[in-house]
Amino acid sequence: MASTDRSLILAIDQGTSATKALLVDRSGAVVGSASAPLGASHPRPGWVEQDPIEVWDSVRAAVRSFDPDDAARVVAVGLSTQRESLVLWDRTTGEPLGPLLGWQDRRTADRCAELLAEGAGPLVADVSGLPLDPMFSALKAQWLLDTYDPGRGRDLCLGTIDSWLLSRFSGGREHVTEIGNASRTQLLDVRRGAWDDRLLELFGVPAAVLGEVTPSDGPFPAVRGLDPVPDGVPVLAVLGDSHAALFAHAGWRPGVVKATYGTGSSVMAVLGGPADAAGGLCLTVGWQHGGAAPTLALEGNIRSSGRTLTWLADLFGVSTTELLDSAGPSAEGVALVPAFGGLGAPWWDADAVATVSGLTLGTGRPALARAAIESVAFQVEDVVAAVEAVGGPIETLLADGGLSRSATVMQAQADLSGRAVRRADDADLSALGAAQLAGVGAGLWSVADLTDRARATTAFAPATTPEQRRDGRAGWHAAIARSRTQPL
Ligand code: G3P
Repeated sequence: MASTDRSLILAIDQGTSATKALLVDRSGAVVGSASAPLGASHPRPGWVEQDPIEVWDSVRAAVRSFDPDDAARVVAVGLSTQRESLVLWDRTTGEPLGPLLGWQDRRTADRCAELLAEGAGPLVADVSGLPLDPMFSALKAQWLLDTYDPGRGRDLCLGTIDSWLLSRFSGGREHVTEIGNASRTQLLDVRRGAWDDRLLELFGVPAAVLGEVTPSDGPFPAVRGLDPVPDGVPVLAVLGDSHAALFAHAGWRPGVVKATYGTGSSVMAVLGGPADAAGGLCLTVGWQHGGAAPTLALEGNIRSSGRTLTWLADLFGVSTTELLDSAGPSAEGVALVPAFGGLGAPWWDADAVATVSGLTLGTGRPALARAAIESVAFQVEDVVAAVEAVGGPIETLLADGGLSRSATVMQAQADLSGRAVRRADDADLSALGAAQLAGVGAGLWSVADLTDRARATTAFAPATTPEQRRDGRAGWHAAIARSRTQPL
């Protein structure tokens, strides 16, 4: 069909620091791309806020740069979003109340510690699949409601970023939340795929403020106000950004493990069968589509990876590229544990402190840069090893994300992990994953087509001995122990 041949999918990836938009044709090729930056504010130490309207505007700005003729060929939209971040808005006016609380926001750390001391951790972890931690949305929901509706009497909507953007598409009329994003709120029973009354009570969140939990292929409201894309183009896929990247790696096959290297890192793999959130990993809904049951995934979130390098580069007054280029062949015994806001997976230690150890008077930028690179690779390997312990042997690690562009980082990953690393040559895997699922819904291709479609990757092979790797990880774990306030 000639008209179908010219069909395009619009993929939107709403991330923490930018919104990216891609136009993807039916061969899977990216034929257009655009980006709009997004700022964040830090009104107090540990607070991370964004303006919900600016987030919506960044989506519109990214799409606005497309040629109207191309926009007219868009048959479906796929959306991937930053997760855990939360918006509160008025159901009647559709206008936000207060800021968007970002996933990195730590303002609820004290409340989190209280709940842990009261013994709430096991129930929360068992039902939601997630460790009790300020990163997830539930404590943010409580803070927003306590601040803007302490009596819980107003007609309000709470939503993750997918939910907020879909509400804007619908002119405020619809309130839905994609199941994978919902599974990151810490309010969902991850196995039932439904909001859980015990968690809602624990966090003081009335069920009425939450959106309808919806599979990743909808139904969702169609786009509106996304000029030059015509109103009414259907949204056929919504995924959390990390989930979308796994989907783009054809990660529905058990045994496929991906690591996204961004500000932080996310290591994720779908499960072949039922499992618990063991080994400091999160149990998460990866996606749900085609009328099938939700696909469960294991994930480990690392708080600081790319951010460690930008921090060190800023300290030396150089760019991240210059820092990477100046890395020496060895860290010379220096270990950098980037626990800037505590440690995430697999340790989940909010009290851990960032440390640099092993300094000598001869230590300079080359060794510190190498230690920063190694901190990224060691943290990822700790999580991959935890996934392996639950799901079985992992020989190859699939990589994506901004920091994966660095061959130095990828080679360090292969060397310190002793695993082959295959980096996706495509830069925007989250957007591509959303495009792929939307294209399934639009009938442009099937999941089987996607499994067969070769993805261009660059391979990095380990060049270390098992002894070197064992000694390296032992040194790293000694450094982790120095950062922690609790014994390993
Ligand atoms: O879990 C947070 C994650 O979804 C944010 O991703 O790429 O926007 O930093 P990113």
